[in-house]
Amino acid sequence: VTITTAPLPPAEVERALAPLGEARMLPTAAYTDHDVLAWEREHLFARSWVCVGRSDEPEHVSGAQRAVALGIGSALLVRDESESLRAFANVCRHRGHELLPVGTSAAQRSISCPYHGWTYALDGALVYATGGGVTEAAECALGELRVADWLGWTFVDERGSAPSLAEHFGGLTDVLAPYDPARLSPVARREYVVAANWKVVHENYQECLHCPRIHPELCKVSPPNSGDNLAPGSSWVGGWMDLRPDAETMSMTGAAVGPTHPGYVLTHRLEPIGPAATRVECEWLADPETTSIDGAVELWDLVNRQDWAACESVQRGLASGAHRPGPIVAREDAVHHFVGLVARAYLGRSNAGQP
Ligand code: FES
Ligand SMILES: [Fe+2]
Repeated sequence: VTITTAPLPPAEVERALAPLGEARMLPTAAYTDHDVLAWEREHLFARSWVCVGRSDEPEHVSGAQRAVALGIGSALLVRDESESLRAFANVCRHRGHELLPVGTSAAQRSISCPYHGWTYALDGALVYATGGGVTEAAECALGELRVADWLGWTFVDERGSAPSLAEHFGGLTDVLAPYDPARLSPVARREYVVAANWKVVHENYQECLHCPRIHPELCKVSPPNSGDNLAPGSSWVGGWMDLRPDAETMSMTGAAVGPTHPGYVLTHRLEPIGPAATRVECEWLADPETTSIDGAVELWDLVNRQDWAACESVQRGLASGAHRPGPIVAREDAVHHFVGLVARAYLGRSNAGQP
């Protein structure tokens, strides 16, 4: 195995691995440099499991297809003849044209390339090559990718080198499985393009020190100093916050939005689209009998926009030439864990067994 380290000064990356209190954030270039993002695409995303959406997309109908972005390229998700989900590299074996534009869906009994019309069966086998003369059709089957369901979300392993999904998620499966999120249905979705590096968006989510200043509406339903972080794993970090006594859920007024407590799940799925640009897809999931979660969507859309404004301001600071990596304070233990995972990967070290 060739270990390739990120194009950053190792001594500066190493400072993120010092104990909390002495640690500094990642080098500035980690947030601004195209070469660093290219490294991350290959080493952090393409060689790991990437979430591509809910497991009920594409729908459970033979021939349903959907193209989704991965770390480097894209995948064509297909329901095969038995309605099982398969993932193929979204690359035609003729000249390499994408089989379906990323973000779009199709429903056909076969997979058909829009460029010259080469056609593949739902198991990826080449069945028709426009122009004739293809003698080695078996060599021209679509490249199949590892795809797996985790609690109702679909994950794809682009390079085929990720550990098992169970190993990847470690203890997080035990934390979330009791809520049975697979039974929930999507009820609302918002997409944002944030002018900030994906790690800035992630780090913002790992601390609530900023909540009293920029999220007054959120603080009305949840005390910003409440909650704690769970003991994190080698691929995840997170924790909980409390509701105020008079709040039934996190909504604009604190009023419940569904038949159960707390009523809904909100996910943020991040896709880096440049060193200073991240697409964020938010999805609200709830029990099928929930009719309206407007109060929750309104609150989080507002909180999101407050966060994006802060992240974009941070990104301008990072790009200003005046930025130096700042300290990580005591109540930013989750930020410390996150930058530690990234720093160890930058240095070519394994995160297995962390913390
Ligand atoms: S590139 Fe797909 S048919 Fe030619
Ligand atoms: Fe925030």
